[in-house]
Amino acid sequence: MALTIRTLAADELAAYQRVLNSAFLADSVEDQLERWRDLFEPDRYHAVFDGDELIGGGGVQTRDITVPGAGPQPLAAVTAVAVKPGHRRRGVLTRVMRAQLHTLHDEGREAVAALWASEAAIYPRFGYGLASEFARLSVPGDAAFRPGVSIDGERVREVSRDEAMPFMKTVYDELRPGRTGWLSRTDAAWDAYFADTEQDRDGLTAYRYAVHPQGYAVYRVKQDWQERGPRNELHVREIAARTDEAYAALYRYLLDLDLVGELKFYTASDDPVLHLLDDVRLALRSRSDALWVRLVDVDRALAGRRYNSDVDAVLEVSDEFCPWNAGRWRLTVKDGTATVQRVDDDPDVVLDVQALGAAYLGGTRLTTLARAQRVSEVTDGALNALSHAFLGDREPHCTEVF
Ligand SMILES: CC(C)(COP(=O)(O)OP(=O)(O)OC[C@H]1O[C@@H](n2cnc3c(N)ncnc32)[C@H](O)[C@@H]1OP(=O)(O)O)[C@@H](O)C(=O)NCCC(=O)NCCS
Repeated sequence: MALTIRTLAADELAAYQRVLNSAFLADSVEDQLERWRDLFEPDRYHAVFDGDELIGGGGVQTRDITVPGAGPQPLAAVTAVAVKPGHRRRGVLTRVMRAQLHTLHDEGREAVAALWASEAAIYPRFGYGLASEFARLSVPGDAAFRPGVSIDGERVREVSRDEAMPFMKTVYDELRPGRTGWLSRTDAAWDAYFADTEQDRDGLTAYRYAVHPQGYAVYRVKQDWQERGPRNELHVREIAARTDEAYAALYRYLLDLDLVGELKFYTASDDPVLHLLDDVRLALRSRSDALWVRLVDVDRALAGRRYNSDVDAVLEVSDEFCPWNAGRWRLTVKDGTATVQRVDDDPDVVLDVQALGAAYLGGTRLTTLARAQRVSEVTDGALNALSHAFLGDREPHCTEVF
């Protein structure tokens, strides 16, 4: 039977959720639909049918993402990509990706798309580049800070979810414009991503909320009572603080909690805690891929962020999946602001669209991508200048898996 593709209707959330559960090998859970209903944008989901059977698809959440120097910008947050077992490896995902990116381009909406990948090998072929990483951090509860670290002495209080939430939203929204990689969160997004059902807990406690006048921490506890005493694990979900002292104070509070053996946190790859510790080796870290970024429209995307230094270079971009991006673009940055023009001039740097996506948030260096043979320099000095211009002030970090 021929495959067809179309967007979803509002009453097709349940049918789509069944595809997701089947694809992700998960049981269906009561009230699952209610959790996602307000985030479901049916006309932004492309679904593939085999005859009448819904067999796969992928969606977009309308969000903003903070980009270097330019604050929040529109993002097509790609989500819920799934193809039912039994229908795989016959091009369903490819059709979805093509429809999604071509629609974004045709509608002139978000110039940038991003996603978290279940498996890292899936998305490069569609032009997504590895733009940010997260760190899996593990610190023993008795790890001391080095002398001289200021934690400002303000009291950290444990409060209820109802008391914490409005404060968390205020702090998050205040900080977000300056934090590359952070996403806008509607109330529905807060509810869905900070849901605290039995399934979310995976055997750990409910979320606990620690609040400082300038920030907050959210965490769960995995109970572990050993013969030599308690070695409970404290699993941090999020720490956000208006000041560096408050950030350190919240960490210190969590590390000093009685009965805790280890603090674990999936955090920014440049989380400063390493440099707060007296003994840096006490912090075990491993890094993994986080956000994959795809420039939908190279010219609009590149003009949508600011740059670290002035530069003037012709980029020859290859992009088989979105051919409107292919060709030569002159990127001229003056006082941090970019203009991007299609040109016929000789290129200074040659690269594919994945490399531009990878560098877009200022975390992945173009010089590193050149060493990996993803970028080549034609004009001497052009690569270093371009690479420097793209760098951000801090590592990009996306605080939630959408
Ligand atoms: C990943 C998934 C969506 C792929 O769907 P699909 O319809 O089988 O993909 P396609 O047939 O369009 O594959 C396109 C290409 O990607 C490759 N590919 C697909 N899935 C891949 C994977 N998991 N790892 C490596 N390559 C993969 C295919 O081999 C194919 O390569 P080719 O063009 O060289 O032949 C599907 O396997 C799935 O639903 N997996 C479980 C849920 C999941 O992981 N979703 C992604 C969430 S981020």
